[in-house]
Amino acid sequence: MKSIKAYAPATVANVSCGFDIFGFAVEHPGDEVKLTMRKEPGVVITKIVGDGGRLPMATEKNTSGVAVQAFLKAIDSTQGVEIELFKNLPLGSGMGSSAASSVAALVAINHLMGEPFSQKELLPFAMEAERVACGSAHADNVAPSLLGGFVLIRGYEPLDVVSIPTPAELYCALVHPQMELKTSDSRLVLKQSISIKDAVIQWGNIAGLVAGLMKPDFGLIGRSLQDVVAEPIRSVLIPGFDELKAAAVHAGALGCGISGSGPTIFSLCTERALATRVGKVIQEQFARYKLNSEVYISKINLEGAKVID
Ligand code: HSE
Repeated sequence: MKSIKAYAPATVANVSCGFDIFGFAVEHPGDEVKLTMRKEPGVVITKIVGDGGRLPMATEKNTSGVAVQAFLKAIDSTQGVEIELFKNLPLGSGMGSSAASSVAALVAINHLMGEPFSQKELLPFAMEAERVACGSAHADNVAPSLLGGFVLIRGYEPLDVVSIPTPAELYCALVHPQMELKTSDSRLVLKQSISIKDAVIQWGNIAGLVAGLMKPDFGLIGRSLQDVVAEPIRSVLIPGFDELKAAAVHAGALGCGISGSGPTIFSLCTERALATRVGKVIQEQFARYKLNSEVYISKINLEGAKVID
């Protein structure tokens, strides 16, 4: 039976100021999904590796299964498909774990079915999977995982996704402490309204970050990596957040913030060696709170999800 494997990278959503509208892809880690055509109709998940038995095997509860089902429904197909999911992303990490699984599955099914959709056209199916995973169909993880690079979700209704060029010398340190935060919980704690004063600060930073990436102007990127909407509330859930942010900037990072809904921390730097140093500094800060952590250093991944086998 015909089968295919695809890879989808981890992502940093929000990028400080752009709650639900900014995200970028990193090179690694990422999830892999193998799809195999089967004779009997229906989508079944037969194997999940790397999740410690925690993800649902039921198709309609797993983001890879939801995405493939939405895809097949859209093309009116009863094709039977078997899914094997290889989880390399930690769960509840804020690194776009649920998104990487659905995106890898979508790229694989699109290829198996002769590419009826462009990569961008796969987005609504991946967003549907996000809704199942955390109750909200946000696109700031799935869009960069699918398309690569730094992505702006200019609007949701209708969906308007814009790729923003990034300077080649931008490196990201991701530091994942061994604790979990559920995105649905991290969304519930947010306030439903903000003051006009905070909105003005946020608008300035959002525009500043886009301008800084496009010019490029590293000082402007650094000054714009500030968030007065989600970070002040969510950072309380991350031990030592204020100190680790200050330590990262002191070590030379352009800026530092919560990756997605956390607890992973991202930091942007202008050199690989600097990103490595900053990653270590953040790791040391977590260690002060008896938290082990993994560090991933990567350039911005311009390629996004792809077929690998
Ligand atoms: N924008 C989403 C949030 C990303 O912050 O809730 C979740 O990874």
